[in-house]
Amino acid sequence: MRVLGIETSCDDTGVAVFDGGRGLRAHMLASQLHTHRPFGGVVPELAARDHVRVLPGLIEETLDRAGVTVGELDGVGYTAGPGLAGALLVGAAAGRALAMARGIAAVGVHHMEGHLLSPMLEEEAPDFPFAALLVSGGHTLLVDVAAAGVYRILGRTLDDAVGEAFDKTARLLGLGYPGGPAVARAAEGGARGRFVFPRPMVNRPGLDFSYSGLKTAARLAVEKNGTDAQTVADIALAFQDAAVESLAEKCRRAMEQTGRARLVVAGGVGANRALRRRLREMGDGGGGRWTVFYPRPEFCTDNGAMIALAAWRRLREGQNDPLDFDVRPRWPLDSL
Ligand code: KG4
Ligand code: ZN
Repeated sequence: MRVLGIETSCDDTGVAVFDGGRGLRAHMLASQLHTHRPFGGVVPELAARDHVRVLPGLIEETLDRAGVTVGELDGVGYTAGPGLAGALLVGAAAGRALAMARGIAAVGVHHMEGHLLSPMLEEEAPDFPFAALLVSGGHTLLVDVAAAGVYRILGRTLDDAVGEAFDKTARLLGLGYPGGPAVARAAEGGARGRFVFPRPMVNRPGLDFSYSGLKTAARLAVEKNGTDAQTVADIALAFQDAAVESLAEKCRRAMEQTGRARLVVAGGVGANRALRRRLREMGDGGGGRWTVFYPRPEFCTDNGAMIALAAWRRLREGQNDPLDFDVRPRWPLDSL
């Protein structure tokens, strides 16, 4: 079964072809960084217009690379939410129209289910069940995954998402957008110990997260010490250390509580190397009880491949959404 996947929930246009027998055939990404950079964040209206502009060409090119014609597709999957309404509508309308024209099935995919399943694109794919840490610009979730489609939320952020905290701290430090990779890069030149920020929620029971206090600590440090290059690096490192440690501690608790043997980490912040190192150390990389699974960094951030894979799983089970489709900018993962 050959499935075309389309991702347009935010500021990346992603397209991929997944073949049930042969795996991922091709995937392409068009980033809108240049469009949004002058604004220091994503401008929803501009995001939607950019998707409209690039999507048709990107679909054609991805099919070309996959060596698959439109006529050989068996189904289409598009991100139906959560995300920016106008941006979602572009991918959904294109996907639905293509499926209707060819008389094939189409499904709306949950963006976070895409992230959740993304490590399955890799050779060393995790088996069900597992626990998952989903960390992106819009979400900070710990999820227990009993099987595909059976999701129980264990913990979530009470305020900002961790990626959002990275982005806001980067702006504060004058590091530009997107913030996560910029903060991580700056942290490499930082000296440990000059600043020590509170580890959010580590001293409180439970599996929820909170990042507003950490963000404030970083802001106060900037106000007091300025933003010369060394101070920026030192603050970036202290911020990253605190963010990583709080994520790691909640993962440790989740693994203990669920007794799962596998931890899946996905979403943009999952590309963070300090986080990867720390979680491996806590898991079987340091003699621990559980194994950590990550997708490659390009499949951590938004991409079409994870949507094609998630769509293929649902289409295989016979799902075919009606023609009067809708997008869901807010869509709780545990309602699937
Ligand atoms: O999953 P994603 O591409 O988009 C959303 O669905 O939000 O995640 C983007 C988020 C941004 O906040 C970005 O700053 C963060 O992931 N990010 C990182 C890194 N790479 C991307 N955060 C920390 N370290 C990184 N290396
Ligand atoms: Zn995402």
